[in-house]
Amino acid sequence: MQRSLFTFIIALYSTAIFAQRQKAISPDLFGIFFEDISYAADGGLYAELIQNRSFEYTGSDHRGWNPMTAWEYTPRGYAYGKLSVETKSPLNENNTHYIVLDIQDAGQEGLGITNYGFNGIPVKQGGQYNVSLFAKKLSGNAMPVTVSLRNRKGDIYGETTFDISDSNWQQYAASITVNNSDDSACLVIIAKGIGQLAVDQVSLFPKQTFKGRTNGMRADLGQAIADLHPRFMRFPGGCLVHGDGIANIYNWKNTIGPLEARVDQRNIWNYHQSVGLGYFEYFQFCEDIGAKPVPILAAAVSCQNSGGTWVIGGTGQKGIPMQDMQAYIQDVLDLIEYANGAATSTWGAKRAAAGHPEPFHLEYLGIGNEDKMTPGFEERFTMIYNVVKEKHPEIKVIGTAGPFSEGEDYEKGWEIVNKLKVPVVDEHYYNDPEWFLKNNARYDKYDRKKAKVYIGEYASKGNKFSNAISEAAYMTSLERNGDVVHMASYAPLLAKKGNTNWNPDLIYFDNTGVYPTVNYYVQQLFSANTGDLYISDVVTFDRKKDSTLAASVVKDSKTGDVIVKLVNAGATDAKVNINLKALGALQSKAQVSLLKEDRGVPVSIETEFTKNAVILDGKSMQVIRLHKK
Ligand code: AHR
Repeated sequence: MQRSLFTFIIALYSTAIFAQRQKAISPDLFGIFFEDISYAADGGLYAELIQNRSFEYTGSDHRGWNPMTAWEYTPRGYAYGKLSVETKSPLNENNTHYIVLDIQDAGQEGLGITNYGFNGIPVKQGGQYNVSLFAKKLSGNAMPVTVSLRNRKGDIYGETTFDISDSNWQQYAASITVNNSDDSACLVIIAKGIGQLAVDQVSLFPKQTFKGRTNGMRADLGQAIADLHPRFMRFPGGCLVHGDGIANIYNWKNTIGPLEARVDQRNIWNYHQSVGLGYFEYFQFCEDIGAKPVPILAAAVSCQNSGGTWVIGGTGQKGIPMQDMQAYIQDVLDLIEYANGAATSTWGAKRAAAGHPEPFHLEYLGIGNEDKMTPGFEERFTMIYNVVKEKHPEIKVIGTAGPFSEGEDYEKGWEIVNKLKVPVVDEHYYNDPEWFLKNNARYDKYDRKKAKVYIGEYASKGNKFSNAISEAAYMTSLERNGDVVHMASYAPLLAKKGNTNWNPDLIYFDNTGVYPTVNYYVQQLFSANTGDLYISDVVTFDRKKDSTLAASVVKDSKTGDVIVKLVNAGATDAKVNINLKALGALQSKAQVSLLKEDRGVPVSIETEFTKNAVILDGKSMQVIRLHKK
């Protein structure tokens, strides 16, 4: 009797100590940063296979580009005629260029145009491809038009025929099944009658997109992103958001509605945005991967680097004129209504019309992207913030603290955020691995009464194992400080090989393959193993205070699982002590994931885990998931 009372008291005591060691941390800690940089959207995640589908490319997108970029005039056999790019009677006022084929002699094979996609159109044997185009007959009789997928020699893999009989723009759509695999096919549109024919907005999608969405994402890339288990997704940038001069500020309203009526735009990263991956698709993709949407809007100023080395013809930071600010602020409010408003509201109705009557549950909204902290910025940010706060107190606004981990913009950004009591602030930094190791205690010192931090962009400037492991060590500190660090996202997420504007990136890809980096696996090990409680004083190291060793312990209160993360960024093995008793009653079997330099991908095993000591190999990390008893 006495003994069981003793045991009971000890159990109570341990529970009390255990509770003291726990603190609540952000449920949204690890997410992703998507920017349309390095062909991340068009030619990347967005599954459209036709490049320059609406003939809107210009030399201001990229030197030498024009409405026929990626296209070629294709008179076949003895056909005779001409091709012109016209603007006289366009599809709509946003999509002004189209081509006209004037066929004087169709010969035996006809005359038309060929699109080579983004350096080739990849097709798979047996795959189905949805093709569509807008066309109108300008003269002559009904015009048979054959659309085929072919190899470069002209061999046909699959085709369909449209009969263009209307003299008004009409959309024609069909599905083509392909009888061969080819990484570099092309789409050939051939008119086989006499007369004039106008063509615009030519599109080709694989039927199999991520989650089977129409106008959807590439299945393999979408899956690689989903496999990160991000808690949130920031979009559409980055510098892309505040743009190259005020005319280039990303306008979300230009990116919704019928694809053929969206407003194409120059991309600050020296290419073109079809905005086929627009705000509706971003929200839907977030939903499909289980991530909270985090749209970032410009603080009504353009990027301070406008006109800099990577952009053409910019102006530096410029503010939207004061007389236009009310309209700009209204656009911000309209976005909230678009995401969350009733399907009967003005903007909610547009979301419903796009096929999503339910709200998208927008919770966070970023205003500004690492802007230069000028009086013009402050004035505009304050105007926007005050209105959003008043009209939508339920939205957590994310402010911005410049492009670096310290310095003038960082200080001033924080000052503005503190003054206005903005709930979350976005910090950015790209530093060396040594910085990440040395600054493991950065957030230990942050004032818990001030704004929470969103580390919206960070990376250790490389894809070597030493980079990834330094990021892993740092991420343990983000968990330890998960009461003040609310969110964090590695940047940039995607880059197309051969089209990179920025290195390093988390996932590289080309037209047919996806190549995750070792940094990706670090991110994945963290985001797939999050908790809502941080447990302190569980792990100790044999080595003296050493910036290359790091650990964190979190608990997922839904499942009761406790997750221990151990990181050794040093070259030599290290002994780590884990006070298992302090973790409460746990099963002896655990899921252990090990990441080492030699393999570069994590290996997971289920194993007995009862020892209080672990030898951690040099340059390795372990994630140990212990299940509740
Ligand atoms: O992540 C790439 C770029 O880095 C972003 O566009 C910008 O915000 C930062 O400078």
